[in-house]
Amino acid sequence: MEYLEIKGGNPLKGEVRIQGSKNAALPILSAVILHRGTTVLRNCPKIIDVVYMLEILKDFGCRVSWEKEELVIDASKLLDCQVAECYGRQMRSSIMLLGSLLGRMKEACVSYPGGCVIGARPIDLHLAALERLGAVFTEEPAGLKAVCRQPVGAAVSLPFPSVGATENVILLASLAEGTTILENAAREPEIVELCRFLNCMGGSVRGAGTSRLVITGVKELHDTEFTIMPDRIVAGTYMLMTAAAGGEVLLRDAPLEQLECVRRVLEQMGVKQEHGEHGIRISCGGRPRCIEELSTSPYPGFPTDLQSPLLAALSAARGSSCVRETIFEARFKIVEELCRMGADIRIEGEKAVIQGVPRLYGTDLTARELRGGAALVLAAAAAEGTSRIYQYHYIARGYENIIRDLQSLGVVVRYLRS
Ligand code: UD1
Repeated sequence: MEYLEIKGGNPLKGEVRIQGSKNAALPILSAVILHRGTTVLRNCPKIIDVVYMLEILKDFGCRVSWEKEELVIDASKLLDCQVAECYGRQMRSSIMLLGSLLGRMKEACVSYPGGCVIGARPIDLHLAALERLGAVFTEEPAGLKAVCRQPVGAAVSLPFPSVGATENVILLASLAEGTTILENAAREPEIVELCRFLNCMGGSVRGAGTSRLVITGVKELHDTEFTIMPDRIVAGTYMLMTAAAGGEVLLRDAPLEQLECVRRVLEQMGVKQEHGEHGIRISCGGRPRCIEELSTSPYPGFPTDLQSPLLAALSAARGSSCVRETIFEARFKIVEELCRMGADIRIEGEKAVIQGVPRLYGTDLTARELRGGAALVLAAAAAEGTSRIYQYHYIARGYENIIRDLQSLGVVVRYLRS
């Protein structure tokens, strides 16, 4: 069994360079297959989800190679449009291949773990939106089958600004005939990055960063080289880690303008932030302060992906805080683990009430998902004593090398197998 062993309780000191963005890289890797040629990506994070995505692309017939720090993908010939069951099950975000497979191959097949996938959450918004552009879906034993013989631009309005549904529409609309107007689109920076990438390869997406996107389909795209932006969630994790453990940290390349909301919360917590040319310097001495009631919400609101790290940081704050989760209903799984470290957190429906305690204590912990796992690492770095965090593989799905990063910040951490 693999686990991380962390000896916590010391203030952080050092610097970390923020890796490329996971949530930008995944839709961009999906977009790559829209083009019958070669794409070169820089700053693509070497995380497990990217590894899975590249395996899927290879299955389709793409040639993939890492040349030094550049990822080169040749999508000239695609032979298959079925996402292998093992990857479909492993990675829910493989759903975002629907739009690009339909655009390029006019067909797609994506497997799903059990249950009826049409009609109910979590992909109803994707399907309804893609149907507007001409896609037809059927449930087959192998998974969800999609066909779109002639994608045609349309007016689409999302009932909720789903990130994945917005990406799928952008992807299919980019090769559709005519113009698609997407209303109530997600405004996340990762959407803006996908649009920037498509425009770099000859696509036409306007309105990125607003809730109204205008996508004009093109006949073909061209070869391109592109550098993926830094990961705001990884940066936010280390900012909150500094709030929890104290110390002084430089986060190189942290995307400041995308972290406005997080920075306001850190300000309330009494965390000092100085930004310069190279990134942001965070410092915090002693216990952070509690915060006013906060709700997660779509961008530019507080990101749901940082809700668990925030809970961990507030666990040892002075006073009582309240955090509402409004995006994913089952995202308080980490609370049980934090309470085993001495945290005092009460869940009331979609609300977590956190009564800060003077200290968290290291213990054996189990990561159950990516961001909750990262939050446990954060709590372990701040806690007194030694923690063992099992199921490290969840964390490696989104953090390129959290061990190296922690070591750069002076945390005593080891990766072990028993
Ligand atoms: C993306 C991010 C994820 C982040 C989330 C919200 C990637 C790879 N993942 O996930 O890290 O936490 O945005 O910022 O970029 N929903 C439906 N029906 C749908 C689609 C979504 O009901 O068809 C619901 C979901 O269950 C969830 C909410 O809408 O409750 C938000 O989901 P969405 O914005 O689509 O998130 P993802 O694209 O899955």
